[in-house]
This record gives sequence, structure tokens and C-alpha cells, in this order.
Amino acid sequence: MAKGEAEHIVPISEAQSYSEVRDMTAMRVSHNKILETKKLPTLPTVAYRLLDLLSSDPDVHELEEVIRYDQALTAKILSVANSAYTNVQQEVDTLQRAIVILGVREISDIAFGVCIASVLKPLKSVHFFDVKEFWIHSVATGITSRIIAQALDYENEDRFFTLGLLHDIGRLVLLYLFPEVFKEVLEQRAKSGRELLLEEADAGLAHTWLGRWLVRRWGLPEAFESVARFHHHPFQKGRFLFEPAVVKLADLTVHQLGLSRLEGGQRGEIGPLLSKLGLDEELYTAIQDHLRFIRENLLEVWGSFL
Ligand SMILES: [Fe+2]
Ligand SMILES: [Fe+2]
Repeated sequence: MAKGEAEHIVPISEAQSYSEVRDMTAMRVSHNKILETKKLPTLPTVAYRLLDLLSSDPDVHELEEVIRYDQALTAKILSVANSAYTNVQQEVDTLQRAIVILGVREISDIAFGVCIASVLKPLKSVHFFDVKEFWIHSVATGITSRIIAQALDYENEDRFFTLGLLHDIGRLVLLYLFPEVFKEVLEQRAKSGRELLLEEADAGLAHTWLGRWLVRRWGLPEAFESVARFHHHPFQKGRFLFEPAVVKLADLTVHQLGLSRLEGGQRGEIGPLLSKLGLDEELYTAIQDHLRFIRENLLEVWGSFL
């Protein structure tokens, strides 16, 4: 899709979402609880406005208009802007100044990261699954996806942060709606040493399916569904899916660099993905070097929300 091409975000109807759930019965998702949709976490309204806005290359003023009415979000953005995460030397005391200094894209990314943190923070970690590490994994994959898309000179690189940020969001559904089953799945994974996805699939609750279902319910654009569903397997029926492939490379990179401490992450070889995407190995090494130190900064950001 060309840069700037508008994509209208239309939340799906109840009937559509029900057919999605039926679609998942093939994966043995027989848990009726998933139909209790009122219990699902919701994405803050400001996140939808941001997604809509970002499809049209907004300026400083437009972005400020969207964010400033959410005071909690504004306060958190200022706190992040003044943290080591951004390396800004002078104090940033207004939202407008933060956008001017850090840029529309950076502030939007921070705002999305804060939105997802606000969904995750009230949740309790379960044994072997730390919510903080999950958030770090999500944001780090978002940052890495965007850098890879930039390196590939992809025309719509900005959206890759949010695509990466939400790639594993199906695990939020697991933690939120099926904490007991998820706990068992995690314990089983600790014994087997396999990828967590394989244990989830055996329990009929693959996060890839649940993620696709959730982002559809949230009414996000089709690319989010595709990434949620195919980020472990971007080669489908002879087709190579670009967005899921970029996010898969980012996901593998984040795990291999140890940027997040989540057990059971996806495994795979980097080489074939690099050549399929046409990413030069030297450039990829430079990307890795650039990423090595983001963990400490993200830990600080998460801590500052407490
Ligand atoms: Fe995943
Ligand atoms: Fe992941």
C-alpha cells in the first residue's frame, strides 16, 4: 500500500466476530468462555484515533490534538520523553515540545506502547510468563520491525512498529481469558523445552489464531490480522507474506539478542529470511548492534508507569 493511503478502521459486527470464533473451532477452541466478549480487554480509544491519523501523515498539531485530551497518556509520554529512553538533553515539559523534539513518529510509537502497557499492567503474571517481559518483547519487536522495514526501504515503514507491537497479542487473550489453561501450557513447555506455540496448539489455543481474532474484534486493519496469524509461518500456500515475514525476522532477532526474557519464543534460521526479504547481511549486523542496548531503556519506561 502506498504511503499515505487512508485505511478506514471499522469495528466488526457481533455476527462477524461470532463467525470468527466458529472459524477457530477447527483449532479445537471449544472454550465457551471466549464468547464472553465483554470480558475482553479493550484498546483505548486514543489508539484508534492514532491509527486513523497515522494513515494520513499527520503534522505536529494534528498529533497533539489527538493525544492531549488524554491526560494520563500525555503525562506518561512526557515521563518517557524525559527518560533515558530518548536521550533528550533538555527537559521536555509540554506535549507539543515533546512532538517537536522527538518527532511525530517517535511520539506515536511511545503512545502506542503506553496504550498496550495500560492494557497489560492490570494483568497478573503467571508462572513462566511475566507481563513486563511480554511488554518489552512486544515493544522491542515493534522497534525492530520498523528498523528492518526502513532498511528494506519499504514505502509504508511507519506502520511496522504497531504491527510488531501487536504480533503476539493473542497471548493477552490466553492470559486474560484462559489463565489456568495457559499456566498448564507454560508448565508443559518448561518440561518439553518446545516452542510455546506448539504447546498452545496442542491445547487448542494457539496465540496466532487468538491474536487474529482479537485484532479483528478490535477492528484493526487487515495487515494486523495477517501478522498476528502468520508471523511464525509467513510462507502460506506458495505465497510469501511480506509483513509477517518482517515481523518474524524481528521476533527472532529480539529472542536471539536476549532483548526480552520470555521462554519458548519462536525459533528459526535467520539466513533464509534475510535472503527472501533481500536484506543485506552487513546491514542486518548493523541493525543488531543498534538494538543491543534498548532493553535497559524499556525496563526504565515500564518502571516509570508504576
Ligand atoms: Fe508469536
Ligand atoms: Fe513474539
